[in-house]
Amino acid sequence: MTKDFQGKVALVTGANQGVGFQVAQELAARGLTVLVGARNWQRGKEAAQKIGTGAHPIQLDVTDGASIAAAAQRIRAEFGRLDVLVQNAGIFSTRMPSLGLSLTEYAPLSLASSASLDEVRAVWETNVFGVLAVYQALLPLLRQAPTANIVNVSSAMGSLSLNVDPASPYHRMFGPVYSASKTALNAITLSMMVELENSPIRVRLASPGFTRTALTGYAGFESVEEGAREVVRVALLGPDDPSGTFTHWENQTIPW
Ligand SMILES: NC(=O)c1ccc[n+]([C@@H]2O[C@H](COP(=O)([O-])OP(=O)(O)OC[C@H]3O[C@@H](n4cnc5c(N)ncnc54)[C@H](OP(=O)(O)O)[C@@H]3O)[C@@H](O)[C@H]2O)c1
Repeated sequence: MTKDFQGKVALVTGANQGVGFQVAQELAARGLTVLVGARNWQRGKEAAQKIGTGAHPIQLDVTDGASIAAAAQRIRAEFGRLDVLVQNAGIFSTRMPSLGLSLTEYAPLSLASSASLDEVRAVWETNVFGVLAVYQALLPLLRQAPTANIVNVSSAMGSLSLNVDPASPYHRMFGPVYSASKTALNAITLSMMVELENSPIRVRLASPGFTRTALTGYAGFESVEEGAREVVRVALLGPDDPSGTFTHWENQTIPW
């Protein structure tokens, strides 16, 4: 693992709360300059202030091309390169929060037969197309770094190999909204890995596991500190460390 992170520049998307905030905080504590991505500028500013030294807010809505272009322009002007990109921004549902539903109450609304196509499109817009759009805008800056890391934050809920098995804990929850968006994210990530396999940029997938954040209505087995742990670990790996991986905390491999 690379030991000296001083001078390295990282961007974490969706870093104003939850796992992203924790990742940004830990990267800043390791000496990186961290751009705290937030779709809401004020929330990003507050999060960066809370983190303190090394953290800088950046307005970034991954579904808004103008916002992505402005963020890329700012990073180019201020730093000229990007060493670490953590694509963490994600949503589980648009209806669960607006209807005030728990995960259990929401489950019947997200089956293949009952899912709202508008909701599928909205969730995929953030979790899949947003990640691709940010990648396309920031790849030229990642190429300016001597070596760079991309971490896409996925979920075991998107694993086809796991969830085809009726014994998988997420098997009954596999639906077209969130789970399939993470499957698509994994596929898009593979396309990035293939494109970059002869470059100094390493691409990895990491999952926080079932973590108590706004996304789950604060249900979960893991604290944000536990959820962020694997994302931080792989964000700080060096160019010779394993890549093309999909891991959960304690370096546990998740099948694709
Ligand atoms: N929590 C879990 O159990 C779990 C498990 C596996 C994977 N994950 C993944 O971990 C990542 C982080 O989730 P979390 O649990 O920390 O959830 P969270 O606390 O709800 O945080 C999600 C973050 O993403 C941001 N975001 C949403 N849409 C965005 C957009 N269009 N542009 C930019 N930012 C946007 C949110 O901003 P606002 O504050 O403005 O909403 C928030 O900062 C997600 O990719 C999620 O799928 C979570």
